[in-house]
Formats: sequence, structure tokens, C-alpha cells
Amino acid sequence: MSKTEYELRVKTSPEWVNVAKADFNSFLKDHAACERKAAALAMSMVQHYPDKPDLIRGMIDLAMEEMAHFREVMKIMLDRGLQQDNDEKDPYIKALLGLIRKDGRVYLLDRLLIFSIVEKRGHERFMMMGEALQDAKMKDFYVRLAKAEYRHYTLFVKLAHQYYDSVEVIARLDELLDAEAEIVENLPFRAAVH
Ligand SMILES: [Fe+2]
Ligand SMILES: [Fe+2]
Repeated sequence: MSKTEYELRVKTSPEWVNVAKADFNSFLKDHAACERKAAALAMSMVQHYPDKPDLIRGMIDLAMEEMAHFREVMKIMLDRGLQQDNDEKDPYIKALLGLIRKDGRVYLLDRLLIFSIVEKRGHERFMMMGEALQDAKMKDFYVRLAKAEYRHYTLFVKLAHQYYDSVEVIARLDELLDAEAEIVENLPFRAAVH
């Protein structure tokens, strides 16, 4: 495992993209909510770690980029006359957040690694969606977003290596990647990002 890149341990089934495409409006609504929550989460990191300048810089850039994604998805939704639904707990995110250890020393490590994995999964799924869509503009949109999520995944894993010993980072990442694979394999396919 390198300091900036790793592989997920299960691939998303092609069945997921069929389910998501079959109710694309619901997928869009969930996608918009994911971008909005990602921006909010990045801003909460900014506030939570006042002593970590590199983290603050990275999270402000990230929040702005996630908000730009939100603006774009929301524009697509509004053009289609779609309204946002009430926020519901995303079962994938909920299961992953449940793995965060409460011990103050490793709390940040777990958050950084889990957010990195979520971005990596987002990269995989947006790329699948981009490949599956017929409309050229929508295709380009999802491929472009997939590339952004790839950068976000490396940002989080880099920060983990910056603030923690690399041996510890790699050992914890190994555990979390196994756990994420199990979570993904046990969740039903939905017309949603996860
Ligand atoms: Fe995003
Ligand atoms: Fe992202």
C-alpha cells in the first residue's frame, strides 16, 4: 500500500448501476444530498481542528469543491422539476461511522481513513454511472465528478499519513477496508450513491 493510493477490496456489482439508472431521479436526489453533506462535513473538520493548518486548508478547498458539485447536481434537479427529500440516514455511511473509535488519539485517524474510503467508493460509482449513461453531457458530468472524488480520496489518506505514524495508518486502513467490503456486500442495491 502506498502513502496516497490503495484499492478497495470489493468491486460494486454492475447490478447497482442498473438499479440506480432505473430510478435516476431518486439517484440524483440522493447524490445532491451526498454532496451537501460532504461539504458540511469538511466545514465541521475545519472548525474541529484549529491547530492543524494543512487540514484546515485542505478541508476548506474540499468544502468549496463539494458545494460546487452540489450546485451542479441541484441545477440538474431543478431543471427536471425535482424537489429534495427529507434527509435520511445513509445506511452505508452510518455503518462506516459506527467503526470510528472514540479514543481521542485515534479519532481523527479513523475519520480521515473512513472519509477517504467513502470518496474512493464515490469515485468508483460515479465512474460506473458515467460509463452507463447515454446522454453525452451527463456522462461527462459523472466522469468529471469521479475524477474529483479520486483527488478527495488521496487528500484524506495523505492527511492521515501526515498526522499519524505510517505503520499505524496502514494497519488501520487494512482493517477498515475489510470492514467496508463487508458492509458493501451486505447492503441492498438502491437508486442512491450507496
Ligand atoms: Fe463531490
Ligand atoms: Fe468528494
